[in-house]
Amino acid sequence: MKIKAILTVMCAVATAAVMPTTASAQAFPTKPVTLVIPFAAGGPTDLLGRALAQSMAAALGTSVIVENRTGAGGTVAGGVVARAQADGHTLLLHHIGMSTAPGLYRKLAFDPMKDFEHIGQVADVPMTVIGRPGLPAKTPQELIAWMQKEKQTANLAHAGLGAASQLCGMLLQQSIGAQSTTVPFQGTAPALTALLGGQVDVMCDQTTQTIPHIKGGKVQLYAVTTPERLKPLPDTLTLREAGLKNFEVVVWHGLYAPKGTPAPVLAALNTALRKSLKDPALVKRLDEVGVQVVAENLQTPDGLRNHLKSEIDRWGALIRQAGTYAD
Ligand code: MLT
Repeated sequence: MKIKAILTVMCAVATAAVMPTTASAQAFPTKPVTLVIPFAAGGPTDLLGRALAQSMAAALGTSVIVENRTGAGGTVAGGVVARAQADGHTLLLHHIGMSTAPGLYRKLAFDPMKDFEHIGQVADVPMTVIGRPGLPAKTPQELIAWMQKEKQTANLAHAGLGAASQLCGMLLQQSIGAQSTTVPFQGTAPALTALLGGQVDVMCDQTTQTIPHIKGGKVQLYAVTTPERLKPLPDTLTLREAGLKNFEVVVWHGLYAPKGTPAPVLAALNTALRKSLKDPALVKRLDEVGVQVVAENLQTPDGLRNHLKSEIDRWGALIRQAGTYAD
């Protein structure tokens, strides 16, 4: 252990000895809060995280610093926050990947139910299926036929095992009975750069990131992954309308703190979250890119905990069926 670390531990022990024992006596926040994002800067989770951080900072009265800890489909960030000091100053914004990780990763450095305090659900983000400029397919039906014909010569990009783009790509391939070559990135921001440059052919990505590129005519848009069409893309077919019955991927998000964070701190964080999700500037900004803030009853610890548990069960069964694992 380094000297600085020893001194820090000694100070903490000395402070604990003179502090009142009731958690409610503690002040929060006492310094900037770090919001850990599991994927690359500039991508969909990062965009949502930075927008949320801005509103949370105003609600908490301190800076909220975004830190991107990429790798292994978001599971690196999960491990970092699970082991962080449980004082409310380190938080994790994660998506649906939190519920798929236990099924996908045999060696997972955290338990999503036991190693975190669940602050609340945040927002649901739809996905789009997009292709590189110049891809011969022009409609969703043509894309499906192209992927079925090309098989492994088609490159399907995603953000790592357990990323929303990987789950969506896996379901797409299963639904059309065609196996493409999958190309993992640290987030869909670098994946999109590769797609724009023509190095990969197709990907599923969240509207937070794709709508500006779609509107700018930089990528080909084939379909949306939601059961209903989207308000910002009213003329775009759903994959269901394109013939893939029951297809649905919506990327839900939750806010987490390390296990053991004191109850009064969690209450302050939940109040700040709920206040942020009512911020008209945030809601408008999210609405423009197809993002739906979740209902108020889901912006709660139980709202997140119950949804996470049911999603772990649902995806665990699907993943066992698909036989996809990482060691
Ligand atoms: C990202 O921010 O890169 C995405 O959320 C990754 C994904 O899950 O597809």
